[in-house]
Parts: sequence; structure tokens; C-alpha cells
Amino acid sequence: MQQATDSSINELIYQMTLEEKIGQLNQPNASPDLNPDLLRQGSIGSLLNASGALTGQGFSDSGNADISNHFQKLALESRLKIPLIIGRDVIHGFRTVFPIPLAQAAAFNPDLAGEAASVAAREATASGIKWTFAPMLDIARDPRWGRVAEGNGEDPFLGAQLASAIVKGYQGDNLAAPDKLVACAKHYVGYGAAEGGRDYENGEISEPTLRDVYLPPFHAAVKAGIGTLMSAFIDMNGIPATANRRLLTNVLRGEWGFDGFVVSDWESVRELTHHGIAEDDAHAARLALQAGLDMDMVDGVYLDTLGESFQQGKISMEELDEAVRRILRIKHRAGLFDQPFTDPSRASRDILTPEARALARQAAVQSMVLLKNEHQLLPLQGFHRILMAGNFIHARAELFGTWTADGRVEDVTPLDESLRQAAPQGTEVWFADTPDLALNLAHHVDAVVLLLGEHPSRSGENCNVSDLSLPPGQAEFVDRMAALGKPLVLVVFAGRPLAITRQLAQADAVLYAWHPGLEGGAALGDLIFGQASPSGRLPITLPRATGQVPIYYNHKNSGRPLTTDGQFRTRYLDLPTAPLLPFGYGLTYTQFEYTNLKVSHATLRGSLEVSADITNTGARAGVEIVQLYVRDLIGSLTRPVRELKGFQRAALQSGESCRVSFTLREEDLAFTRADGTCGVEPGSFHVWIAPDSQRGLQGEFRL
Ligand code: GLC
Repeated sequence: MQQATDSSINELIYQMTLEEKIGQLNQPNASPDLNPDLLRQGSIGSLLNASGALTGQGFSDSGNADISNHFQKLALESRLKIPLIIGRDVIHGFRTVFPIPLAQAAAFNPDLAGEAASVAAREATASGIKWTFAPMLDIARDPRWGRVAEGNGEDPFLGAQLASAIVKGYQGDNLAAPDKLVACAKHYVGYGAAEGGRDYENGEISEPTLRDVYLPPFHAAVKAGIGTLMSAFIDMNGIPATANRRLLTNVLRGEWGFDGFVVSDWESVRELTHHGIAEDDAHAARLALQAGLDMDMVDGVYLDTLGESFQQGKISMEELDEAVRRILRIKHRAGLFDQPFTDPSRASRDILTPEARALARQAAVQSMVLLKNEHQLLPLQGFHRILMAGNFIHARAELFGTWTADGRVEDVTPLDESLRQAAPQGTEVWFADTPDLALNLAHHVDAVVLLLGEHPSRSGENCNVSDLSLPPGQAEFVDRMAALGKPLVLVVFAGRPLAITRQLAQADAVLYAWHPGLEGGAALGDLIFGQASPSGRLPITLPRATGQVPIYYNHKNSGRPLTTDGQFRTRYLDLPTAPLLPFGYGLTYTQFEYTNLKVSHATLRGSLEVSADITNTGARAGVEIVQLYVRDLIGSLTRPVRELKGFQRAALQSGESCRVSFTLREEDLAFTRADGTCGVEPGSFHVWIAPDSQRGLQGEFRL
């Protein structure tokens, strides 16, 4: 199959002129004033439909199948009739907007994330989109960075598990299926290490950290058969990702065998001149192409300069042919040569179905993280009158979060309406639009729920913040409400971890809702009033204060750790060193007990089993995300104090127990060693079966 495809592709390449080859590498934005002759001449290989990219600042209509068919028809008027591949940022749903990716990561449920991607693929393809610029796989350790919302958090194991599931959800087993979407692992690589949490800044990542922390999710995506990658807006260690031949060719193709294509990020080819490694556009284009960057997003630099560079002998026909071959290979795999058009009637069948909404609601329920629940205040039951207040009480599109270009506000039930509908018979729910009104009404109610947090416009691309506190004015509002002494629930909507240290102490219960998507209101109602129970876990550390950043669980041990005596040990003078809440943390409406840890062998040869009993000791059913961590005690390079190596969902009725077992294999313990090779080293290991990255039953074994 592959040979047949490649031979037909090579035949096509043989017929192509230089201009037609360069045209395939060119991806302009599909703006209304696009010159149709460029399509007819074969000067465009792909269109990007990026309206509404910085969503939260305004919504746009992605158009629909008719618009895509219009552009495709023009492309098929070209001499060789090579179809377009039309791309769009379908990041966490298309019209059915799911929770932001960071929230979906909090569900620790790759299967569910994969199902959500499959729904997004069905809806986007019904609108004529055949390529999404997702999943975003950037490991993030700095929540000041706005794009932490778009990724899967701080852990490479969780990131890799989600990457694989999401790619399979988008692409399925047959990329040519009409309802499957070519995926794009982005942003390759290290984008989350931008200094200061400032988008487009530069970063330094050591080779072992690059290999063991930032690359694994991308490797998982390639192993899952992903069709494309996108280069990152980052100068990593002095080489911008868009011109990094070692990563784009030696690692991606040489080591991993990736055979798809790489698209630049928006104008990142031209930006090589800003970074200062290219003298001009032509030099930038040559550097990128020869590094292994196949398609140029939006700046037109490939189209404008590669022809002349070829005539000057500065690039070879083989280099051009290889980029064209990769692009045509994915177009073939995506079925575009056989079926370039979209059936417009699909939209009425495939978009925003009841099943899709139900899945979005399930994803939102599983993504919310219960951070505190004193006296089992939640779920709210038996209260006669409840007051709800805060900047989110009327939220509709604000629930979408960033990168939701195709979400529509009319699809969303206002949050207050959802909560009113969810309240049980006999419970009166009041809403206060202003803090002053809330303070007055609070005297007449039995409990207060504050619905606060950051608007999506503070989240996403280039929406970085220098202060992780709640947005201005909200902390003062919580102070005033907490002073009343009423049972207080705080619900936080955010696209990032916020340093809610003071509020976590003040409230009796805290539920982290992220930006939960179009069914977020209904999901919140389910959780607050007990139709459902929370099971989410933090996919990223919650800092006490901005000053702690970067802070993450899988850090190396200090030479003077907190456990040493005396004052000369790692610390701040003005703040505890530990995070507010750790990676993997989350409560449920019941309690779970971990007992009887067993490690099957004292020495790991090939593999061993680690198991424990999990018992629901509380009064309600619940789902526990049981986590497996290891620590390699001695290495030729220093090793993290903990590394996640597995997780399982244990759904247990009150009083019920189960035995959870994990298999640890030798290859699970491989890391980048002092000599730069990847492998294991003999020695002692600690192992935990745990509810989060700080606690758990500890065992040990040797390798
Ligand atoms: C943006 C983003 C990238 C997105 C692309 C197209 O600048 O960095 O993630 O896919 O441009 O919208």
C-alpha cells in the first residue's frame, strides 16, 4: 500500500514544475480576499482557516462545507488537480466545545479524551476541515504562560498517554474516512519553557530534560501514527525550532521514523530573521526547508523565495521533492485525491448531537477537581436557600475557554439557569449580580456559592500573566463574603493554576472548574447538588504564590533538601517551599483507604507487579484515580524525586474494596543517562501506589 502510494506520488512529482512543487509548501490564511488564481495555478497546497484564533476575544464563523468546497473546486482547476488540505485549530471540540485540554487532562481519562477528539473530528470534517492543529503537547511548568490551558500539564507520562489517545481519536484507523481528521502534534518542541512564562520568549532546556520531559508526548504521537507536527515559536538553546535540523530531521525522522510533514507555526519561518539566524526571508526559507520544515504557514516566504534560491543553486530539487512528497503522502492517506469534497448535508446530522453534548457534560464532570470539602459541605443537600454570586454567575461563552473559534454562545445555557435547574426540590437559589447585593442577601440564606475566576481572554496564546492571584477585586470579595461566617463554597473557573492560597483557607469547599466547555454549567450543577461526584486530579501543580514558579512534582532533589536539619536547606524566608496542592491531588465525595501494598519481586527482571487494596470507606460511591510512582534512588545523572508511571480509575461503592495492580517493566525505568544514551541503570528504586504525588504506600525493589 505504502509503496503503491509512494510510486504514484513520485510519478506526480515527476510531472510537477518547480512552481507547482513550491506551491504545495505554501499555506496562506483563507481570507475573503485570497486571490483565486493562486489556487488555479497550484500555488497553494493548504489553506488555514484561523479566524477566531485568540478566542475569548470574539467568536467567528469557521465557514462551512460550502466554503471549503469552493476553495477545493478552485484548486482542482489547476493543471495537475492536486487537492488542498484545509486546516483549522480544532483544539478541544468544534461546535460541541469540550473542557479545555488542561481540564481534560485533569480527568486522567485518555479514553474519554480520545472520544472527545473523535466527536471533534466528525464535526470539523462535516464543515470541510480535514486537518486540525492539535493536540498541543507542550509540557508546561510555568502557569504564567497563557497556553498552559491548551496542553496536558506538567507530566510526560500523562502527556504521552493523552497524546496517543487523542491522535487515535482524531485520526481513527483510516485517515481517509470522511469523519476523520489529520492531527498535528504541536508545538515541536519545548515551547512551554519560554522564559518568564512569556509567549514567544526563548528557553534553555538540557538534553536529558528535553529527552525525558518535553519529547515523550511527541514521540507517543508519532508512535500513534500522527500525520503532521508543527514547529514551535521558540529559540531553544540558541536554535529556533523552525530551523532545528537535529530535532526536525535527525530525531523526528531519523530516530522516530516519522513520515508525515511538518508545518511551521504562524510566520515562524520569517521570524528566523528576528531571532537573528537568517539574514533575510530567502535565507530563512532555505534554513527551514533544509532543517526539515516542509510547509510554510501564512508568511509566504517559501512561495516568494525558494524558486530563486533553487535557480541560484542554494537548494536542491531533491530537498524540494522530499518536502512535496511528505505533503502529498498525507493528502493521499487522508483520501483527498479520491474524495476532496465534503457532503454539505452532513452538517445537519453530525454537528452538536445530543450524544456529543452528553459526552461534553461527562468530560466536564470528570475534569473538575475538588480541592477542599470541610464537613462534607458538598454536595449541597438539605439547604433551604442558597445564594450564588460572582463574575461567572451568568457565564455562557465564558465557559468555553481559549481556542474555541467554532463555539456559539447560543449553544450554551447560562450558568445561573443550569444551576437553578439542578437545584433539588425545596431548595431556593438566589443570584446576586453585585458584591454589595450579595453581602445584603447573604444574611438571609443558609449557604453561599461564589463562582469566580479568570475570563478566557486571560488564557491562551500570548495571554500571559505576571501574577497568579485571582483577577483584581475577587480576593476582596471573597474576604467580605467569608467574614459573614456562612457555609462557603468557592468554584474557580480558570485556564491555568491560580495561587488561591488565601481563598482555599477561607472557603469550606473549593471546586476547580477550569473552563469546562459548553456543558460546563450542567456539569457543575450535577456536582454541586450531588447528581455526580468529582474524580478529577491536578494535572499541574497548584503554587502558593507566583514567586514559587517554576514548581513541579517531578523535580530533582536538592543537595540540602527540606528534610535536612538546620536552617541551611532549600527554602524561602517568606513562604513554605511546598506547593499549595501537588500534582495528582483531588478529593471525592467519599474517602478511600490504601492498604496491603505488595511488590511481586525484590528484584525486577523483565517486569514485576505492584498492587494494593483500595477501599471506599465513605458513605457514597466514588471514583479514585489510583496512581503509580517510582523513584530511581541513584543514577549517573540525578533523578526526579517521583515519576508517574501509571494510573487507573477505581469505581467503588461505599464499603467496597478492590485490588489495583500495575505492571512495571524494565523499559519503563529508562532515562537519558550521563553518556547521553537512553536506558536503565541497576540499583534501588522506591515505588508508591498513591492518591497523589506526595502521599501513598511506599515499597521498594532493585533492578
Ligand atoms: C498560532 C498558534 C498555533 C496555531 C496557529 C494557527 O499562532 O501558535 O498553535 O495552530 O497559529 O492558528
